[in-house]
Amino acid sequence: MKKLPIFLLVAIAVTFAVGVVCALSTGASFGASSDATSDALTGTSSDQYNTQTTNDMNSETIVLATPAETGATLLHALRERASTREYSADGLTLEQLSGVLWAAAGVNRPGADGAPARLTAPSAMALYPIRTYAVLPHGVYLYNTDAHTLTCVLEGDHRRLAGLQDFVYSAPLNIIYVADLAAYKGRYDNLSEADQLRICGMDAMAQCQNANLWACGNGMASVTRLMAPGTEFLAAIGAPSTYRFVLAQTVGIPQ
Ligand SMILES: Cc1cc2nc3c(=O)[nH]c(=O)nc-3n(C[C@H](O)[C@H](O)[C@H](O)COP(=O)(O)O)c2cc1C
Repeated sequence: MKKLPIFLLVAIAVTFAVGVVCALSTGASFGASSDATSDALTGTSSDQYNTQTTNDMNSETIVLATPAETGATLLHALRERASTREYSADGLTLEQLSGVLWAAAGVNRPGADGAPARLTAPSAMALYPIRTYAVLPHGVYLYNTDAHTLTCVLEGDHRRLAGLQDFVYSAPLNIIYVADLAAYKGRYDNLSEADQLRICGMDAMAQCQNANLWACGNGMASVTRLMAPGTEFLAAIGAPSTYRFVLAQTVGIPQ
């Protein structure tokens, strides 16, 4: 049988492949390439870039790697996907982190006629209200969809804010999907907040399942989660009043 690729690699700008850490809060750096630039900034050796994982990543900005066309077939991922709640202590590599976040919330094509870029997951009315946060062991980061980077919004280990189950607190990556209801303002004001949240749940679940399948197809494991202290999370990151917690997800290396 002909094998299908799990995801088609898209033409994300070559600049995304450059692994330069833009703003450094601790002197650490990670990235797939541009070692000369990174070395000049940090004094680290290129060997370190290849060994750093989410257990070490603590810079203010993380420049993610371009997703590679790797992994199992889509058929295999669909056959194998299952919720996992036990993970090894291993962190995710930059490539693994990058792939999961791109699958969840990355750009896969430009918008038509100057419209904003379109993402890997569908979104009702193409409003893209979901903001995607990565909770890493050293900080909470906002995923910048267009730039394919992470920006630290809260330093420190805040995995307690990412869920209510023990495995969450030691997992290398928890993703929090947050709805910005401002996306509907002026366009669909007739929608009640309950309807807006219902639609946001669907958008977030599509993103989450993209990440589930990418994780499964690339040697990782994951679980979709509703159980999380969403209000506490939003307060801790100083979220605008239009933000609502929608969904969470844990990703790690299976035991
Ligand atoms: C919307 C949604 C919310 C979920 N919330 C949680 C959760 O908070 N904690 C958890 O451990 N599993 C959660 N799950 C995972 C389900 O328990 C799991 O999908 C179900 O048991 C079926 O197992 P499977 O995913 O391995 O096929 C959630 C799944 C979905 C779709």
